[in-house]
Amino acid sequence: MSSLNQPVQGMSDISMPEIWLWRRMEELARRVMARYGFEELRTPIVEFEAVFTRSLGSTTDVVQKEMYTFERSGRRLSLRPEGTAGVMRHASGLSPAEADGARWFYIGPMFRCERPQAGRRRQFHQCGVECLEEPSPLVDAEILALQVDLLQAWGLGDCAVHLNTRGEAAGHAAMAQGLREALEPHREALCVDCLRRMDENVLRVLDCKTSSCQAVVARLPPMTDFMSEASRSYLAQVASYLEAMGISYKLDPLLVRGLDYYEHTVWEIAGTTEGAQSALAGGGRYRMKLGNREFFGVGFGIGLERVVHVLQTLGRAEALLEPAPPLVWLVGLGEAAQEQNLVWMRRLRAEGLSCRMAPGGSMKSQMRAANKSGAAWTVIRGDDELKQQVAAVKNMVTGEQMTVGEADLVGTLKSLTSAGSALPQETPEAVGDLG
Ligand code: HAM
Repeated sequence: MSSLNQPVQGMSDISMPEIWLWRRMEELARRVMARYGFEELRTPIVEFEAVFTRSLGSTTDVVQKEMYTFERSGRRLSLRPEGTAGVMRHASGLSPAEADGARWFYIGPMFRCERPQAGRRRQFHQCGVECLEEPSPLVDAEILALQVDLLQAWGLGDCAVHLNTRGEAAGHAAMAQGLREALEPHREALCVDCLRRMDENVLRVLDCKTSSCQAVVARLPPMTDFMSEASRSYLAQVASYLEAMGISYKLDPLLVRGLDYYEHTVWEIAGTTEGAQSALAGGGRYRMKLGNREFFGVGFGIGLERVVHVLQTLGRAEALLEPAPPLVWLVGLGEAAQEQNLVWMRRLRAEGLSCRMAPGGSMKSQMRAANKSGAAWTVIRGDDELKQQVAAVKNMVTGEQMTVGEADLVGTLKSLTSAGSALPQETPEAVGDLG
Protein backbone atom coordinates (compact mmCIF):
# COMPACT_ATOMS: atom_id res chain seq x y z
CA MET A 1 0.00 0.00 0.00
CA SER A 2 1.31 3.45 -0.83
CA SER A 3 2.37 5.57 2.09
CA LEU A 4 0.32 8.70 2.74
CA ASN A 5 3.34 10.73 3.78
CA GLN A 6 4.86 10.41 0.29
CA PRO A 7 3.82 12.22 -2.88
CA VAL A 8 2.44 10.18 -5.78
CA GLN A 9 5.17 8.22 -7.61
CA GLY A 10 6.99 10.40 -10.13
CA MET A 11 5.91 13.61 -8.38
CA SER A 12 7.86 15.62 -5.80
CA ASP A 13 7.60 18.25 -3.14
CA ILE A 14 10.01 21.07 -3.82
CA SER A 15 11.20 22.47 -0.52
CA MET A 16 14.10 24.36 1.01
CA PRO A 17 16.90 24.69 0.02
CA GLU A 18 16.06 23.61 -3.56
CA ILE A 19 13.05 25.94 -3.72
CA TRP A 20 15.45 28.91 -3.47
CA LEU A 21 17.01 27.77 -6.74
CA TRP A 22 13.59 27.42 -8.39
CA ARG A 23 12.56 30.89 -7.29
CA ARG A 24 15.78 32.40 -8.56
CA MET A 25 15.47 30.61 -11.90
CA GLU A 26 11.91 31.88 -12.28
CA GLU A 27 12.97 35.40 -11.43
CA LEU A 28 15.80 35.31 -14.00
CA ALA A 29 13.42 33.79 -16.58
CA ARG A 30 10.96 36.66 -16.13
CA ARG A 31 13.77 39.17 -16.68
CA VAL A 32 15.01 37.50 -19.87
CA MET A 33 11.43 37.13 -21.19
CA ALA A 34 10.78 40.85 -20.68
CA ARG A 35 13.84 41.70 -22.77
CA TYR A 36 12.34 39.75 -25.65
CA GLY A 37 8.89 41.34 -25.25
CA PHE A 38 7.11 38.29 -23.81
CA GLU A 39 4.16 38.57 -21.39
CA GLU A 40 3.18 35.87 -18.94
CA LEU A 41 0.12 33.72 -19.66
CA ARG A 42 -1.33 31.38 -17.04
CA THR A 43 -3.67 28.80 -18.53
CA PRO A 44 -5.55 26.18 -16.47
CA ILE A 45 -3.83 22.90 -15.64
CA VAL A 46 -6.99 21.05 -16.76
CA GLU A 47 -8.32 21.36 -20.32
CA PHE A 48 -10.81 19.42 -22.41
CA GLU A 49 -9.08 16.27 -23.64
CA ALA A 50 -9.67 17.26 -27.27
CA VAL A 51 -7.45 20.36 -26.83
CA PHE A 52 -4.52 17.95 -26.63
CA THR A 53 -5.62 15.02 -28.80
CA ARG A 54 -6.33 17.32 -31.76
CA SER A 55 -3.15 19.34 -31.60
CA LEU A 56 -0.41 16.97 -30.35
CA GLY A 57 -1.37 14.13 -32.72
CA SER A 58 -3.45 11.06 -31.89
CA THR A 59 -0.59 8.64 -32.57
CA THR A 60 2.00 10.35 -30.35
CA ASP A 61 3.17 8.61 -27.16
CA VAL A 62 1.97 11.56 -25.11
CA VAL A 63 -1.61 11.19 -26.34
CA GLN A 64 -1.68 7.40 -26.62
CA LYS A 65 -0.02 6.47 -23.33
CA GLU A 66 0.75 9.40 -21.07
CA MET A 67 -2.24 11.65 -20.50
CA TYR A 68 -4.05 11.79 -17.18
CA THR A 69 -7.62 11.88 -18.45
CA PHE A 70 -10.84 11.62 -16.46
CA GLU A 71 -14.53 12.24 -16.95
CA ARG A 72 -16.67 14.79 -15.10
CA SER A 73 -20.28 15.64 -15.94
CA GLY A 74 -19.95 13.83 -19.25
CA ARG A 75 -16.89 15.86 -20.36
CA ARG A 76 -13.50 14.27 -20.84
CA LEU A 77 -10.83 16.39 -19.17
CA SER A 78 -7.03 16.03 -19.11
CA LEU A 79 -4.20 17.33 -16.97
CA ARG A 80 -2.03 19.27 -19.39
CA PRO A 81 0.94 17.21 -20.63
CA GLU A 82 2.55 20.29 -22.21
CA GLY A 83 1.92 24.01 -22.59
CA THR A 84 1.54 24.79 -26.30
CA ALA A 85 -1.96 23.36 -26.84
CA GLY A 86 -3.52 25.32 -23.95
CA VAL A 87 -1.87 28.54 -25.12
CA MET A 88 -3.27 27.99 -28.62
CA ARG A 89 -6.71 27.27 -27.12
CA HIS A 90 -6.41 30.65 -25.40
CA ALA A 91 -5.38 32.32 -28.68
CA SER A 92 -8.39 30.82 -30.45
CA GLY A 93 -10.67 32.72 -28.07
CA LEU A 94 -9.11 36.04 -29.08
CA SER A 95 -9.69 38.10 -32.19
CA PRO A 96 -7.08 37.67 -34.95
CA ALA A 97 -5.85 41.21 -34.23
CA GLU A 98 -5.22 40.31 -30.58
CA ALA A 99 -3.65 36.93 -31.29
CA ASP A 100 -1.40 37.81 -34.23
CA GLY A 101 2.16 38.42 -33.13
CA ALA A 102 1.38 37.57 -29.46
CA ARG A 103 4.39 36.65 -27.35
CA TRP A 104 3.52 34.62 -24.28
CA PHE A 105 5.59 32.76 -21.73
CA TYR A 106 4.53 30.33 -19.03
CA ILE A 107 6.06 28.58 -16.06
CA GLY A 108 4.14 25.75 -14.47
CA PRO A 109 3.50 22.06 -13.88
CA MET A 110 2.79 19.53 -16.65
CA PHE A 111 1.69 15.91 -16.21
CA ARG A 112 2.67 12.81 -18.15
CA CYS A 113 2.02 9.31 -16.85
CA GLU A 114 5.38 7.95 -18.00
CA ARG A 115 7.24 4.95 -16.60
CA PRO A 116 9.22 6.58 -13.76
CA GLN A 117 12.94 6.58 -14.47
CA ALA A 118 15.83 9.01 -14.20
CA GLY A 119 14.78 12.37 -15.64
CA ARG A 120 11.20 11.29 -16.32
CA ARG A 121 8.70 12.71 -13.88
CA ARG A 122 4.94 12.34 -13.86
CA GLN A 123 4.59 15.91 -12.67
CA PHE A 124 7.31 18.15 -14.01
CA HIS A 125 7.61 21.85 -14.69
CA GLN A 126 8.23 23.67 -17.92
CA CYS A 127 9.27 27.20 -18.63
CA GLY A 128 8.09 27.78 -22.17
CA VAL A 129 7.22 30.41 -24.73
CA GLU A 130 4.91 30.64 -27.71
CA CYS A 131 5.30 33.34 -30.33
CA LEU A 132 2.43 33.58 -32.81
CA GLU A 133 4.13 34.58 -36.04
CA GLU A 134 3.84 33.14 -39.52
CA PRO A 135 6.81 31.10 -40.77
CA SER A 136 9.93 33.25 -40.76
CA PRO A 137 13.49 31.97 -40.24
CA LEU A 138 14.25 35.31 -38.58
CA VAL A 139 11.66 34.74 -35.84
CA ASP A 140 12.69 31.09 -35.36
CA ALA A 141 16.31 32.17 -34.87
CA GLU A 142 15.26 34.91 -32.44
CA ILE A 143 13.26 32.43 -30.32
CA LEU A 144 16.16 30.00 -30.30
CA ALA A 145 18.39 32.86 -29.16
CA LEU A 146 15.94 33.57 -26.34
CA GLN A 147 16.19 29.96 -25.20
CA VAL A 148 19.98 30.05 -25.32
CA ASP A 149 20.04 33.37 -23.40
CA LEU A 150 17.73 31.96 -20.76
CA LEU A 151 19.88 28.87 -20.26
CA GLN A 152 22.90 31.15 -20.11
CA ALA A 153 21.26 33.28 -17.41
CA TRP A 154 20.85 30.06 -15.43
CA GLY A 155 24.53 29.22 -15.84
CA LEU A 156 24.12 26.76 -18.72
CA GLY A 157 25.54 28.76 -21.59
CA ASP A 158 27.47 25.73 -22.81
CA CYS A 159 24.50 23.56 -23.88
CA ALA A 160 24.50 22.06 -27.36
CA VAL A 161 21.66 23.07 -29.72
CA HIS A 162 20.55 20.23 -32.01
CA LEU A 163 18.79 21.63 -35.05
CA ASN A 164 16.71 20.10 -37.81
CA THR A 165 13.62 20.71 -39.90
CA ARG A 166 10.36 18.85 -40.33
CA GLY A 167 9.89 20.66 -43.64
CA GLU A 168 6.87 22.61 -44.78
CA ALA A 169 3.49 21.03 -44.00
CA ALA A 170 2.61 20.71 -47.71
CA GLY A 171 5.52 18.29 -48.12
CA HIS A 172 4.81 16.08 -45.07
CA ALA A 173 2.98 13.39 -47.06
CA ALA A 174 5.80 13.13 -49.62
CA MET A 175 8.39 13.01 -46.84
CA ALA A 176 6.48 10.21 -45.06
CA GLN A 177 6.29 8.27 -48.32
CA GLY A 178 10.04 8.68 -48.93
CA LEU A 179 10.80 7.53 -45.41
CA ARG A 180 8.48 4.52 -45.73
CA GLU A 181 10.24 3.45 -48.94
CA ALA A 182 13.64 3.83 -47.29
CA LEU A 183 12.51 1.70 -44.32
CA GLU A 184 10.76 -0.96 -46.39
CA PRO A 185 13.87 -3.12 -47.09
CA HIS A 186 14.55 -3.23 -43.30
CA ARG A 187 11.10 -4.37 -42.13
CA GLU A 188 12.42 -7.55 -40.51
CA ALA A 189 14.72 -5.52 -38.22
CA LEU A 190 11.95 -3.23 -36.92
CA CYS A 191 10.06 -3.81 -33.68
CA VAL A 192 6.31 -4.56 -33.68
CA ASP A 193 5.50 -0.98 -32.65
CA CYS A 194 7.55 0.45 -35.53
CA LEU A 195 5.83 -1.87 -38.06
CA ARG A 196 2.57 -0.29 -36.89
CA ARG A 197 4.16 3.19 -36.95
CA MET A 198 5.19 2.63 -40.61
CA ASP A 199 1.50 2.87 -41.53
CA GLU A 200 0.25 5.17 -38.79
CA ASN A 201 2.90 7.83 -38.41
CA VAL A 202 6.23 6.85 -39.92
CA LEU A 203 8.19 9.76 -38.39
CA ARG A 204 7.74 8.14 -34.98
CA VAL A 205 10.04 5.29 -36.12
CA LEU A 206 12.90 7.81 -35.94
CA ASP A 207 12.61 8.22 -32.18
CA CYS A 208 12.07 4.54 -31.29
CA LYS A 209 14.37 3.52 -28.45
CA THR A 210 14.72 -0.16 -29.54
CA SER A 211 18.34 -0.83 -30.53
CA SER A 212 17.53 -2.79 -33.74
CA CYS A 213 15.29 0.09 -34.92
CA GLN A 214 17.93 2.66 -34.00
CA ALA A 215 20.48 0.71 -36.09
CA VAL A 216 18.15 0.90 -39.12
CA VAL A 217 17.42 4.58 -38.54
CA ALA A 218 21.13 5.40 -38.30
CA ARG A 219 21.62 4.19 -41.90
CA LEU A 220 18.70 6.20 -43.37
CA PRO A 221 19.38 9.14 -45.65
CA PRO A 222 18.83 12.52 -43.93
CA MET A 223 15.16 13.56 -43.85
CA THR A 224 15.98 16.70 -45.81
CA ASP A 225 16.53 14.41 -48.85
CA PHE A 226 12.76 13.89 -48.92
CA MET A 227 11.92 17.59 -48.61
CA SER A 228 11.35 20.49 -50.98
CA GLU A 229 14.07 23.00 -51.81
CA ALA A 230 12.01 25.65 -49.98
CA SER A 231 12.12 23.59 -46.76
CA ARG A 232 15.86 23.05 -47.05
CA SER A 233 16.59 26.71 -47.67
CA TYR A 234 14.35 27.73 -44.71
CA LEU A 235 16.59 25.60 -42.46
CA ALA A 236 19.75 27.01 -44.05
CA GLN A 237 18.46 30.53 -43.38
CA VAL A 238 17.76 29.77 -39.70
CA ALA A 239 21.26 28.27 -39.43
CA SER A 240 22.88 31.33 -40.98
CA TYR A 241 21.02 33.69 -38.60
CA LEU A 242 22.23 31.60 -35.67
CA GLU A 243 25.78 31.88 -36.99
CA ALA A 244 25.37 35.66 -37.34
CA MET A 245 24.40 35.79 -33.64
CA GLY A 246 27.32 33.57 -32.64
CA ILE A 247 25.05 30.74 -31.47
CA SER A 248 26.61 27.37 -32.13
CA TYR A 249 24.41 24.48 -33.22
CA LYS A 250 24.71 20.98 -34.57
CA LEU A 251 22.56 19.82 -37.48
CA ASP A 252 20.84 16.61 -36.42
CA PRO A 253 19.13 15.02 -39.45
CA LEU A 254 17.27 12.47 -37.29
CA LEU A 255 15.69 14.93 -34.88
CA VAL A 256 11.90 14.86 -35.36
CA ARG A 257 10.49 15.72 -31.87
CA GLY A 258 7.76 13.67 -30.25
CA LEU A 259 4.75 15.88 -31.06
CA ASP A 260 2.99 16.13 -34.41
CA TYR A 261 2.25 19.84 -34.66
CA TYR A 262 5.70 20.85 -35.89
CA GLU A 263 6.63 22.07 -39.36
CA HIS A 264 9.93 23.63 -40.48
CA THR A 265 12.43 24.32 -37.70
CA VAL A 266 12.73 21.90 -34.77
CA TRP A 267 15.40 21.79 -32.08
CA GLU A 268 16.41 20.24 -28.82
CA ILE A 269 18.93 21.34 -26.28
CA ALA A 270 20.94 18.53 -24.81
CA GLY A 271 22.24 18.90 -21.28
CA THR A 272 25.90 18.85 -20.46
CA THR A 273 25.49 15.63 -18.46
CA GLU A 274 25.23 12.18 -20.02
CA GLY A 275 22.08 10.08 -20.28
CA ALA A 276 19.25 9.21 -22.62
CA GLN A 277 16.91 11.65 -20.84
CA SER A 278 19.27 14.56 -21.12
CA ALA A 279 17.10 16.79 -23.36
CA LEU A 280 16.77 19.93 -21.29
CA ALA A 281 14.50 21.63 -23.75
CA GLY A 282 12.75 21.19 -27.04
CA GLY A 283 11.00 23.48 -29.39
CA GLY A 284 10.21 24.44 -32.90
CA ARG A 285 7.84 25.99 -35.36
CA TYR A 286 4.30 24.66 -35.58
CA ARG A 287 0.96 25.02 -37.27
CA MET A 288 -2.30 24.24 -35.44
CA LYS A 289 -5.87 24.21 -36.67
CA LEU A 290 -8.44 25.13 -34.02
CA GLY A 291 -12.05 25.42 -35.13
CA ASN A 292 -11.97 27.20 -38.45
CA ARG A 293 -8.80 29.13 -37.68
CA GLU A 294 -5.22 28.15 -38.28
CA PHE A 295 -2.44 29.33 -35.99
CA PHE A 296 1.24 29.61 -36.76
CA GLY A 297 3.79 29.86 -34.05
CA VAL A 298 7.21 29.02 -32.76
CA GLY A 299 8.17 28.20 -29.20
CA PHE A 300 9.93 25.94 -26.77
CA GLY A 301 9.57 24.20 -23.44
CA ILE A 302 12.41 23.81 -20.96
CA GLY A 303 12.18 21.02 -18.37
CA LEU A 304 12.95 22.74 -15.07
CA GLU A 305 13.62 19.55 -13.06
CA ARG A 306 16.25 18.61 -15.63
CA VAL A 307 17.83 22.06 -15.48
CA VAL A 308 17.94 21.89 -11.68
CA HIS A 309 19.48 18.41 -11.86
CA VAL A 310 22.19 19.54 -14.29
CA LEU A 311 22.96 22.67 -12.23
CA GLN A 312 23.32 20.55 -9.10
CA THR A 313 25.36 17.83 -10.83
CA LEU A 314 27.77 20.39 -12.26
CA GLY A 315 27.98 22.25 -8.94
CA ARG A 316 26.59 25.45 -10.48
CA ALA A 317 23.47 25.83 -8.33
CA GLU A 318 25.15 27.77 -5.50
CA ALA A 319 26.54 30.42 -7.82
CA LEU A 320 23.04 31.25 -8.99
CA LEU A 321 21.63 31.92 -5.55
CA GLU A 322 21.60 35.36 -4.04
CA PRO A 323 22.38 35.53 -0.33
CA ALA A 324 19.21 35.48 1.80
CA PRO A 325 18.44 38.85 3.43
CA PRO A 326 19.74 38.96 7.02
CA LEU A 327 17.13 37.99 9.59
CA VAL A 328 16.51 39.98 12.76
CA TRP A 329 15.12 37.98 15.72
CA LEU A 330 13.30 39.82 18.48
CA VAL A 331 13.68 38.43 21.98
CA GLY A 332 11.53 39.68 24.84
CA LEU A 333 10.74 38.52 28.35
CA GLY A 334 7.21 38.78 29.64
CA GLU A 335 3.93 39.58 27.98
CA ALA A 336 4.47 43.35 27.70
CA ALA A 337 7.81 42.90 25.94
CA GLN A 338 6.37 40.27 23.59
CA GLU A 339 3.48 42.54 22.65
CA GLN A 340 5.85 45.43 22.02
CA ASN A 341 8.05 43.17 19.91
CA LEU A 342 5.04 42.25 17.78
CA VAL A 343 4.48 45.95 17.13
CA TRP A 344 8.19 46.53 16.44
CA MET A 345 8.31 43.63 13.98
CA ARG A 346 5.53 45.16 11.92
CA ARG A 347 7.36 48.49 11.85
CA LEU A 348 10.64 46.85 10.86
CA ARG A 349 8.95 44.75 8.15
CA ALA A 350 7.35 47.87 6.69
CA GLU A 351 10.90 49.22 6.36
CA GLY A 352 11.94 46.15 4.37
CA LEU A 353 13.58 44.07 7.12
CA SER A 354 12.97 40.35 7.67
CA CYS A 355 12.16 39.59 11.28
CA ARG A 356 10.80 36.88 13.51
CA MET A 357 10.17 36.21 17.18
CA ALA A 358 9.31 33.16 19.27
CA PRO A 359 5.78 33.16 20.71
CA GLY A 360 7.05 32.68 24.28
CA GLY A 361 9.58 30.87 26.45
CA SER A 362 12.61 31.86 28.49
CA MET A 363 15.31 34.22 27.21
CA LYS A 364 17.53 31.17 26.77
CA SER A 365 15.01 29.26 24.66
CA GLN A 366 14.27 32.34 22.57
CA MET A 367 18.01 32.82 21.92
CA ARG A 368 18.20 29.12 20.97
CA ALA A 369 15.38 29.65 18.46
CA ALA A 370 17.21 32.69 17.07
CA ASN A 371 20.38 30.62 16.65
CA LYS A 372 18.52 27.79 14.95
CA SER A 373 16.92 30.19 12.47
CA GLY A 374 20.33 31.50 11.40
CA ALA A 375 19.34 35.05 12.45
CA ALA A 376 22.10 37.61 11.82
CA TRP A 377 20.95 39.97 14.58
CA THR A 378 18.87 39.68 17.75
CA VAL A 379 17.08 42.54 19.44
CA ILE A 380 16.84 41.76 23.13
CA ARG A 381 14.32 43.60 25.29
CA GLY A 382 14.10 42.49 28.90
CA ASP A 383 12.52 44.40 31.82
CA ASP A 384 15.48 46.79 32.15
CA GLU A 385 15.51 47.65 28.44
CA LEU A 386 11.76 48.25 28.46
CA LYS A 387 12.06 50.57 31.44
CA GLN A 388 14.93 52.51 29.88
CA GLN A 389 13.25 52.48 26.44
CA VAL A 390 16.27 50.87 24.78
CA ALA A 391 17.10 47.54 23.16
CA ALA A 392 20.24 45.42 23.15
CA VAL A 393 21.20 44.63 19.55
CA LYS A 394 23.44 41.57 19.26
CA ASN A 395 25.51 40.47 16.28
CA MET A 396 24.93 36.71 16.23
CA VAL A 397 28.17 35.98 14.37
CA THR A 398 30.65 38.00 16.44
CA GLY A 399 28.64 38.06 19.69
CA GLU A 400 29.15 41.85 19.94
CA GLN A 401 26.32 43.77 21.55
CA MET A 402 25.28 47.43 21.61
CA THR A 403 22.53 49.39 23.30
CA VAL A 404 20.25 51.39 21.02
CA GLY A 405 17.52 53.84 22.03
CA GLU A 406 14.00 52.96 20.84
CA ALA A 407 13.88 56.02 18.62
CA ASP A 408 16.99 54.87 16.74
CA LEU A 409 16.16 51.16 16.52
CA VAL A 410 14.66 51.10 13.03
CA GLY A 411 17.41 53.27 11.54
CA THR A 412 20.18 51.29 13.23
CA LEU A 413 18.82 47.92 12.13
CA LYS A 414 18.26 49.22 8.61
CA SER A 415 21.85 50.26 8.27
CA LEU A 416 23.18 47.12 9.96
CA THR A 417 21.24 44.87 7.58
CA SER A 418 21.32 47.24 4.56
CA ALA A 419 17.64 46.40 4.10
CA GLY A 420 15.97 46.70 0.71
CA SER A 421 13.24 49.14 -0.15
CA ALA A 422 10.22 49.60 2.08
CA LEU A 423 6.84 48.13 1.20
CA PRO A 424 4.25 50.58 -0.12
CA GLN A 425 2.04 51.75 2.74
CA GLU A 426 -1.72 51.83 2.42
CA THR A 427 -3.03 55.38 2.54
CA PRO A 428 -6.22 56.05 4.57
CA GLU A 429 -7.99 56.89 1.27
CA ALA A 430 -7.07 53.50 -0.21
CA VAL A 431 -8.41 51.71 2.86
CA GLY A 432 -11.56 53.82 2.62
CA ASP A 433 -12.01 52.73 -1.02
CA LEU A 434 -12.16 49.11 0.09
CA GLY A 435 -15.03 49.83 2.43
P1 HAM B 1 8.73 18.35 -25.06
O1 HAM B 1 10.02 18.04 -25.75
O2 HAM B 1 7.72 17.28 -25.00
O3 HAM B 1 8.13 19.63 -25.78
O4 HAM B 1 9.04 18.84 -23.59
C1 HAM B 1 9.95 19.92 -23.36
C2 HAM B 1 10.87 19.59 -22.21
O5 HAM B 1 10.11 19.22 -21.06
C3 HAM B 1 11.78 18.38 -22.45
O6 HAM B 1 12.93 18.74 -23.19
C4 HAM B 1 12.13 17.99 -21.03
O7 HAM B 1 13.17 18.80 -20.52
C5 HAM B 1 10.86 18.31 -20.27
N1 HAM B 1 10.10 17.08 -20.05
C6 HAM B 1 9.26 16.46 -20.88
N2 HAM B 1 8.75 15.35 -20.33
C7 HAM B 1 9.27 15.28 -19.09
C8 HAM B 1 9.13 14.36 -18.00
N3 HAM B 1 8.30 13.33 -18.04
N4 HAM B 1 9.85 14.60 -16.87
C9 HAM B 1 10.67 15.67 -16.79
N5 HAM B 1 10.84 16.56 -17.78
C10 HAM B 1 10.15 16.37 -18.92
C11 HAM B 1 6.96 20.24 -25.42
O8 HAM B 1 6.35 20.00 -24.42
C12 HAM B 1 6.54 21.33 -26.37
N6 HAM B 1 5.27 21.91 -25.89
C13 HAM B 1 7.61 22.41 -26.48
C14 HAM B 1 7.20 23.49 -27.44
C15 HAM B 1 6.65 24.68 -27.13
N7 HAM B 1 7.31 23.42 -28.75
C16 HAM B 1 6.84 24.53 -29.30
N8 HAM B 1 6.41 25.30 -28.30
